[in-house]
Amino acid sequence: MQLTVLPSSITASPLAEGKLVDRLGRGVGYLRLSLTKACSMRCTYCRPERIASIRGEPTLTPDEIQRLVEHLADRHGLTKVRLTGGDPTSRRELTEIIRRVAGVDGVRDVAMTTNGLTLVRRAREYRDAGLRRINISLDTLHPQRFAALTGVDGLERVLRGLDAARDAGLWPIRLNTVVVRGQNEKDLPDLVRFAAANDYEARFIELMPMGPLASSWKQRYVPEADMRSILDPIIRSWTPIEQGHDAARRYRVRLDDGAEAVIGFITPMSCNFCAACNRIRIAADGRLYPCLMDKPAGSILEALRREFDPDLLDAILAQGLEQKREEHPHDGYAVMTHIGG
Ligand code: GTP
Ligand code: 5AD
Ligand code: SF4
Repeated sequence: MQLTVLPSSITASPLAEGKLVDRLGRGVGYLRLSLTKACSMRCTYCRPERIASIRGEPTLTPDEIQRLVEHLADRHGLTKVRLTGGDPTSRRELTEIIRRVAGVDGVRDVAMTTNGLTLVRRAREYRDAGLRRINISLDTLHPQRFAALTGVDGLERVLRGLDAARDAGLWPIRLNTVVVRGQNEKDLPDLVRFAAANDYEARFIELMPMGPLASSWKQRYVPEADMRSILDPIIRSWTPIEQGHDAARRYRVRLDDGAEAVIGFITPMSCNFCAACNRIRIAADGRLYPCLMDKPAGSILEALRREFDPDLLDAILAQGLEQKREEHPHDGYAVMTHIGG
């Protein structure tokens, strides 16, 4: 596959003296790194029925990933790395990659977003390698609906994986639920009670118009206001938590039975959080995405793969950041399994 790489004439970094920031002064404190397009689930809103084989596609190696993270931490103030996919656990070298990333000076938070299927066996291994915490996709607690939504009869395994993650010290644990009208909006109260009982954070994500449901997005989309109406009957009080750079708007809530929980809403469609976005997204093949919902802006693969040239890497990153818009486009371009949300 042909990758878009900047001409080699671009060698002088426009940012040699300073940190990478985009036109709006948003820096790059948070790297979301997709390790593979592969995933063992087939969530209805995420994965197309047919996906091309990824065999033979260029992929950043653990060495290249380490170099990239060292560079961003050393020069540009990176402190947080989240491993995504597809599902990052589908990448054979995952544990090795966690170890490399966690070992970089300055990186304080190494997290992973996963479908949770491998945690039963691997949570401790990931933790020992330096992973701090996980966010898990959990769209329902109803076994049949789970199977219908994900294509895998695996709810029980994911729930055991959550226990294994907690036992291994992966903490805090956040549950990500993409809310789809007609599929799981009625499951929200149960998910909140489950989160409260286990001290997990429940996060509800607005469906974005990308992936297999893009064409029926209008009918399937549930805005935050509707999610709150669904939850209101079981919630006595909502206390907002300061948002900072988080994508989620979070609340500490007290439930009708006296239990407490933290609930987050990720609302890219009804109320986006772009103004505070300090993320940089890199896909497994090295493509740089200025935004989850935008086209890739070049590739860092060659800058890492040839004789490592930090200034060339900076020039490519800076050009990518220049394309970062003030607000994301509303017709998603990217395939979520490439860039992991
Ligand atoms: P924390 O570090 O725990 O706050 O996690 P996070 O919210 O940064 O990461 P996570 O992978 O759990 O994000 C959950 C989902 O939120 C993703 O899969 C996306 O669907 C959505 N999301 C996260 N970041 C962004 C973003 O910058 N823009 C948009 N549009 N959606 C995002
Ligand atoms: N809308 C919102 N979030 C989505 N995800 C995947 N597809 C969509 C979509 N259309 C998110 C889910 C999943 C991650 C890979 O991306 O949170 O866990
Ligand atoms: Fe896999 Fe996550 Fe997409 Fe589901 S949402 S298919 S678990 S990448």
